[in-house]
Amino acid sequence: MTAPAPTETVPDTEPEPILQVTGLTRRFGGLTAVDHVDLTVRPDTVRAVIGPNGAGKTTLLDLVTGFTKPDEGSVTFLGHDVLRMPPHRLPGVGLMRSFQSARLVPRLSVRENVMLGAHHLTRSRFLADGLRLPRARREQRALEERADAVLEFLDLRRFADTAGSDLPTGVQRLLEVGRALAGAPRLLLLDEPAAGLDGTETRELAAVLRAVARSGTAIVLIEHDVEMVMSISDDVLVLDAGAVVADGPPAVVRTDPAVLAAYLGQPDIDGAGTHPDERENR
Ligand SMILES: Nc1ncnc2c1ncn2[C@@H]1O[C@H](COP(=O)(O)OP(=O)(O)OP(=O)(O)O)[C@@H](O)[C@H]1O
Ligand SMILES: [Mg+2]
Repeated sequence: MTAPAPTETVPDTEPEPILQVTGLTRRFGGLTAVDHVDLTVRPDTVRAVIGPNGAGKTTLLDLVTGFTKPDEGSVTFLGHDVLRMPPHRLPGVGLMRSFQSARLVPRLSVRENVMLGAHHLTRSRFLADGLRLPRARREQRALEERADAVLEFLDLRRFADTAGSDLPTGVQRLLEVGRALAGAPRLLLLDEPAAGLDGTETRELAAVLRAVARSGTAIVLIEHDVEMVMSISDDVLVLDAGAVVADGPPAVVRTDPAVLAAYLGQPDIDGAGTHPDERENR
């Protein structure tokens, strides 16, 4: 066996985070919805943000994606100062999000819905489309191929020509992810993608999200299904009343007394107040 060439050695330093959130704060009147939150996301990882209802999860995501302006703090994504960019430019630098309620266009086919996610990658716009210029036609074909590749990856190719309105909820959720993936993001932020899914659909979605992270798109996952979060996340940030109460790998976070305390009285949180060993066996 020969020694590896110097270029093949694995660096012993952590890769640079792709997203760095520092001291992010948002107040609504007297309420501090997000309270000096720090959050880093490493490339190719699943990063969960959990917390009870009203903890500030969606507001945090709104801040990171420019939908809401913070009172304090900074957001840096791949060297870009996100807070100085209009939200519609974020997909162009590789930052995409989904919304808490799915927003598929019902009258468009599944393929067309996925293509919508990639429009910022094309150069021709409405005028060229209307005139059917060669570039527009070429780009249209490239978009279709891209959408089909995404559908293949998600194992949804059979639905390509189905209308967005005619899909089971589980498929709609996967499609939301697919539409974002078509835009080739480096980071995808998902707000409760498993809401309304049954156990099988949730497991399918979890497997897809793991595969997405391995294929080069890091994920920030806001989710109420704690079992799902713990099974696929590399690191978990726990918010309560806007503030970070814990941040670390799932095995550490799930036994943290501050986390259990934050979840007490929350009926939809898996295992709150139960011994961790009992939860393992469910
Ligand atoms: N536009 C707004 N104006 C006033 N208060 C707001 C606004 N948006 C959110 N809030 C408040 O900020 C707090 C955090 O809300 P947020 O929606 O971020 O919580 P969440 O963690 O996403 O909750 P859920 O789990 O229910 O989705 C809540 O108390 C909410 O009522
Ligand atoms: Mg929310």
